Amino acid sequence: MSVPLLSVQDLSVVYPGSPPVRAVEGCSLAIGRGEIFALVGESGSGKSTVARAVAGLVRPAQGQILLDGVPLEGLRGAAAKTARRRIQMVFQDPDASLNPYHRIGTSLAEPLRVRGIKDKAAIEARVSELLAMVRIDRALLDRRPRELSGGQKQRVAIARALAMEPELLIADEALSALDVSTQAAVGALLRELRDRLSLSILFISHDLLMVRHLADRVAIMRGGQILEQGVCGAVLDAPAHRYTRLLLDATPDLARGGIDLDAEEALLDTEGDVA
Ligand SMILES: Nc1ncnc2c1ncn2[C@@H]1O[C@H](COP(=O)(O)OP(=O)(O)OP(=O)(O)O)[C@@H](O)[C@H]1O
Ligand SMILES: [Mg+2]
Repeated sequence: MSVPLLSVQDLSVVYPGSPPVRAVEGCSLAIGRGEIFALVGESGSGKSTVARAVAGLVRPAQGQILLDGVPLEGLRGAAAKTARRRIQMVFQDPDASLNPYHRIGTSLAEPLRVRGIKDKAAIEARVSELLAMVRIDRALLDRRPRELSGGQKQRVAIARALAMEPELLIADEALSALDVSTQAAVGALLRELRDRLSLSILFISHDLLMVRHLADRVAIMRGGQILEQGVCGAVLDAPAHRYTRLLLDATPDLARGGIDLDAEEALLDTEGDVA
């Protein structure tokens, strides 16, 4: 079998304090190129902590995180910086990743400058490309975040992450604050980006309906541990664990087929337009 893009092996994370919090214990998962891997579980189960460890924001107490088979922990200097660039995060609140005083164009140009692109025309061209990728109209370039809808802001936050040319995108509840039809449209966008860029996505969500339509594989977390994982359809149709069945029972629409992301693709062309 080929080496997965991301491999998390026996990860444990402990937050300091008295007493210390064992937020994640012995979690292992692997994400292939172009794969959407969902992490599901109740509040406090450790989903964001796994994401933070993968993004290098918290240190593992135990275990390893490997990118293309290379342990992240051993990397220093330029190699560490490159590995960081290859993993980008999008959060629930797009306002957290966008400067409220900056115009959208400025927010997208900034990471390009950080990456060493100095030429103004090259930056403008790349900003246009990024906007097109997330289906935001160029007319919005001069707006500030408060002049955009929640869905538009989240698209800009995704474009900002894409500016770093990541191979793994971590979407931590990135759809959770959006209304239902916008969730479906931005979900369809994530799937499209996966298809076009062979992007791998760690998709963290409470929403089993969205997970079912978006993810290739899913892991169910509880109390810092992964209870079960596997191909999304298999786990959600025939859960091995009682807790997964309880989660599914709390999502009655799932049994009826739920939302249809393909039907929502049509929304892609309109949602990012000028309001
Ligand atoms: N910085 C921190 N310091 C101490 N404990 C923390 C910290 N961040 C999270 N925790 C604890 O670690 C555990 C896992 O939290 P985490 O944020 O990973 O859960 P989650 O599954 O993402 O929850 P949610 O669905 O609410 O976002 C919880 O018990 C939480 O209280
Ligand atoms: Mg969380």
